[in-house]
Amino acid sequence: MKAGIIGSGEVGQRLGDGLIGLGHEVMIGSRDPAKLAAWVGRHSGAASAGSFSDAAAYGELLVIATSWAGTTSAIGMAGAKNFAGKTVIDVTNPLDFTSTPPKLAVGCTDSAGETIQRMLPGAKIVKAFNIVGNPLMVHPEFPGGRPTMFICGNDDGAKKTVNGIVTAFGWESIDIGGIEGSRLLEPLAMLWITYYFRTNTGNHAFKLLRK
Ligand SMILES: NC(=O)c1ccc[n+]([C@@H]2O[C@H](COP(=O)([O-])OP(=O)(O)OC[C@H]3O[C@@H](n4cnc5c(N)ncnc54)[C@H](OP(=O)(O)O)[C@@H]3O)[C@@H](O)[C@H]2O)c1
Repeated sequence: MKAGIIGSGEVGQRLGDGLIGLGHEVMIGSRDPAKLAAWVGRHSGAASAGSFSDAAAYGELLVIATSWAGTTSAIGMAGAKNFAGKTVIDVTNPLDFTSTPPKLAVGCTDSAGETIQRMLPGAKIVKAFNIVGNPLMVHPEFPGGRPTMFICGNDDGAKKTVNGIVTAFGWESIDIGGIEGSRLLEPLAMLWITYYFRTNTGNHAFKLLRK
């Protein structure tokens, strides 16, 4: 499958690595595609870089991995028509970096996931991978077994696709319902981030335990 990633940061590159590892072809979009030369060079033939619009048009599956402050602008450059009918993984967290640690810019009665779904009503947005630091997104490999990745979205077919990717990356995947579940997953990311700042470690993830 061809995947287009809107976002050239650590998350975009890490998920690009993971998707290529699963046998997919990946284009990452950026305002400055030249800065992805090293990432493209690491993946013989399966990786490419282009504009946000190039990547959005290229992918049958899309990922949004942009800074919250740049997300509206990046989606505008990518072009809403390029998202229509596609499964779109939303990894964003709506972080306000005017303080340290950062705080959520939106929450409780709305979320980034819902905001993006409203921006792209024709797309099938699935929130995933936002509750962990990027080094652990692909093959996290904890001694205690598979950690849990919670996902949510309004389209069951899209969630089935994302569930397959999450599982192949080494997570237990749990579907918590519609895209409004982002109101829970984005604060859960804040819990991950708070622990990161308190301990200066990024080697943690969540797991749902049952008896
Ligand atoms: N870092 C993590 O471990 C982690 C974990 C979970 C979730 N997240 C979330 O995932 C998202 C991506 O995080 P990241 O750390 O990989 O990268 P980031 O630095 O938050 O975002 C980089 C991307 O945002 C784009 N961008 C920034 N300002 C823009 C603007 N004004 N207009 C258009 N595009 C703009 C950049 O475009 P250019 O390519 O043109 O520079 C780049 O593609 C964020 O929402 C973050 O909260 C991050």
